[in-house]
Amino acid sequence: MMKRGSFYVLIGLGSFFLLFLMLDERFGSPLVYQIQPTAAVPHTKQKKIAPKEKLAKIQKPVEVLLLPDTAGVKKKLKPASSEKILEQIISTQRKLISKDMKGYEYPDGKYNISASKLEDLVMEKHGRPVRSLIVTTWRSGSTFFGDILNAHPANYYHYEPLLAFDIVQVRGPPLSSKALKWVKDLLNCEYEDLGEYIDYGKPHPWVFNHNTNLWKQCERHKGVCYDHKFLSSMCKLFPFQSMKLVRLRLRIAQELLADEKLAVRMVLLVRDPRGILQSRKHRDWCPSSPDCFDPALTCADLVSDYKVAVELLKKYPTRFKVIRYEDLSLDPYKHVEELYKFYGLNLHPKTKKFLDSHTKASKGGVSSTFRNSAIAPFHWRTDLEFAEVEGIQEYCTTAMKYWGYVPAMNATHQKEFNPVTNYALK
Ligand SMILES: *[C@@H]1O[C@H](CO)[C@@H](O)[C@H](O)[C@H]1NC(C)=O
Ligand SMILES: *[C@@H]1O[C@H](CO)[C@@H](O)[C@H](O)[C@H]1NC(C)=O
Repeated sequence: MMKRGSFYVLIGLGSFFLLFLMLDERFGSPLVYQIQPTAAVPHTKQKKIAPKEKLAKIQKPVEVLLLPDTAGVKKKLKPASSEKILEQIISTQRKLISKDMKGYEYPDGKYNISASKLEDLVMEKHGRPVRSLIVTTWRSGSTFFGDILNAHPANYYHYEPLLAFDIVQVRGPPLSSKALKWVKDLLNCEYEDLGEYIDYGKPHPWVFNHNTNLWKQCERHKGVCYDHKFLSSMCKLFPFQSMKLVRLRLRIAQELLADEKLAVRMVLLVRDPRGILQSRKHRDWCPSSPDCFDPALTCADLVSDYKVAVELLKKYPTRFKVIRYEDLSLDPYKHVEELYKFYGLNLHPKTKKFLDSHTKASKGGVSSTFRNSAIAPFHWRTDLEFAEVEGIQEYCTTAMKYWGYVPAMNATHQKEFNPVTNYALK
């Protein structure tokens, strides 16, 4: 049983890194490109050296999940909406989750979470899932962070629910009420009113394809993912629900923390505006939208997020946290462990081992994932002209002071200095 569980993690890790490769062109994080090649290697190796029967054993449950009704069904091509097929997918998924959760260390009072068994975390059993949120903006390193949370096989990933809003920031009415309604409905696994969200997902597969567990079904059974009843039932099976939000500013997102019934845990992920804007320069979807390219708007958001964050840290000391992308990249192992604890998640031994091997490799001096990840946040120092940096800093003095980023004084200084102060928000 344990062995099988570990294989799922391997397969899970392998496939989400493959997903990066194929589908993350548009919304990838700066870190992701350093992470994937090394991560993909052990997976491929593992597959090659595994004896044939062993492989069959690994893949069997996946097959069962994909083809709940025996192989004949595929040929007959029953309509995907057939109630019976949907029920079978749900029932198989339920069994898989319960297998994946064997050996899970439940909080049982730790981290102020009382759950001591699977049902306590499952909505269809009237439990409350662990809801882990990331609030950030475009190009701030959230893809890596989001996929680490999605590494557990029993996670359901609400990947950026506001894609249909296009390249805009939600800072207040009239957009805010619609945005909050969508987000809350998703966190409650209520898809009934989410027709517009679902319709947007038809030509834009990335609405669903980061949600690895769901996407397997979307690919296999045509149309199931446009069926709100199926989506609701599927969602309600999962003990872990994660979501990343890149369009909702903290002033609005704080309302999610106020909802005691949801009991979300939220991390605000912050990045140096010079790094953000340099990274956005390379995205073709950015230049037409001021919310994306304008340093004045980006830094006004950073200032506003700061002011709200100070209040939220006092109000929700156990459910709200702040992290800078630069700190996360410089010491990912330490921070991932801290973040897991904050969310009340039990770091899976395999995920731990995975991170472990990566941090060790970087100490050995090999050109490794995390060694590269330590450089990634600072590319702007060599990629931007000093004039551009000055242009950004002009609008970002306050934002940079609040979040502990040092201004570059001249072209030479820019290439040599450490832009990050040793700092913690109080
Ligand atoms: C623990 O959770 C309860 C409700 O779930 C809440 O009222 C209380 O403030 C929380 N305690 C801490 C320290 O966050
Ligand atoms: C650039 O700025 C640094 C830090 O303020 C300063 O020490 C140095 O003298 C400056 N160099 C030039 C050429 O102005």
